[in-house]
Amino acid sequence: MKRVLAAAVLALAACGSKNASTPTSPTTAPPPAAEPDPLRAAAGTAGKLVGTAVQSAFLTDSRYTAVFARHFDYVTAEYEMKWDPIERARGAEDFSGGDAIANFAAARGMRVKGHALVWHQAVPSWVAGLSAAELRTELERHIRSVASHYRGRVVAWDVVNEAIDDTTSGLRDSMFRQKLGDRYIADAFRVAHEADPQALLFYNDYGGEALGGKSDAIFSLVKGLVDQGVPIDGVGLQMHVRAAAPPDEAGVAANMRRIAALGLRVNISEMDVRVGDAGGATAANLDRQRSVYRSMVAACVAEPACDAATFWGFTDAHSWIYSAYGADAPLLFDAQYAPKPAFYGVLDALMHR
Ligand code: XIL
Repeated sequence: MKRVLAAAVLALAACGSKNASTPTSPTTAPPPAAEPDPLRAAAGTAGKLVGTAVQSAFLTDSRYTAVFARHFDYVTAEYEMKWDPIERARGAEDFSGGDAIANFAAARGMRVKGHALVWHQAVPSWVAGLSAAELRTELERHIRSVASHYRGRVVAWDVVNEAIDDTTSGLRDSMFRQKLGDRYIADAFRVAHEADPQALLFYNDYGGEALGGKSDAIFSLVKGLVDQGVPIDGVGLQMHVRAAAPPDEAGVAANMRRIAALGLRVNISEMDVRVGDAGGATAANLDRQRSVYRSMVAACVAEPACDAATFWGFTDAHSWIYSAYGADAPLLFDAQYAPKPAFYGVLDALMHR
């Protein structure tokens, strides 16, 4: 039942996006005449949602919001729905950042994906001192509280994020696994489902986009959950990739297909394409970046179970890549909000070009 309802919600979102070029707010500056076609209209025609991560602080910048509202119909909180920003002091929850994002989205007919209920990073410092029994209680309370708070306002949650270890391809030996055992993952999905039975529940990870050891590990984790009857609805492929060594499109398509064959959805959940180490001239790097964006989004467009493509930001003015990897230009618009070749790569993929 949940899948039917949620599918209707996503289909509705896709229909609504066809009218996306209508200005939606008096505070949103109209786009200049030379603005390219809205991504959300093309995505709607393809039956997909097109998303971006945002931070509430950016929503006061009208140049930012004009491009955000024109092109996207799906939004993920880049930071503000994680445990640490919500509950830095134990028992004192602050939903203001996530609420600002959810309210902005609701006013413009965008859907919201919650991110992320259980992640080994962005955990409040007080959590480290908990005993196993206390951690079980507090993690369950956290999931229940946050999923209940956003019930009816998010269509999906990343319930567990990045639980696979990079080197062993076993489960990451996080505090959660050490204290709660492997079952913390299944338990998290069950609690999230109780708190928000309508939300689609995703497992989200990086580095498992095409076929290979990590994607095999993700696949067997989610297959195990499906086999146990755990309420999981899909897998998010983060897609933080490099233009110099992009995932292979056929491998991504095959990986999406095997996930879909489990009865799950799949989405591109955090895409960006680094060019900082690509080595070529700027124009050549940006063209390689365009082609990576085009081929990865094309894999989603071709896969019926792929319901959304979300980018981890949209303007090179703001990206987590700079603090994690150094100078770069990883997104669809440049720092002045002009569309880059990457933007046209995404548009082409959505329009089957
Ligand atoms: C990053 C955000 O972009 C940063 O602003 C924040 O400080 C740390 O987290 N994988 C994820 C995201 O699932 O939550 C991460 O986001 C990027 C990697």
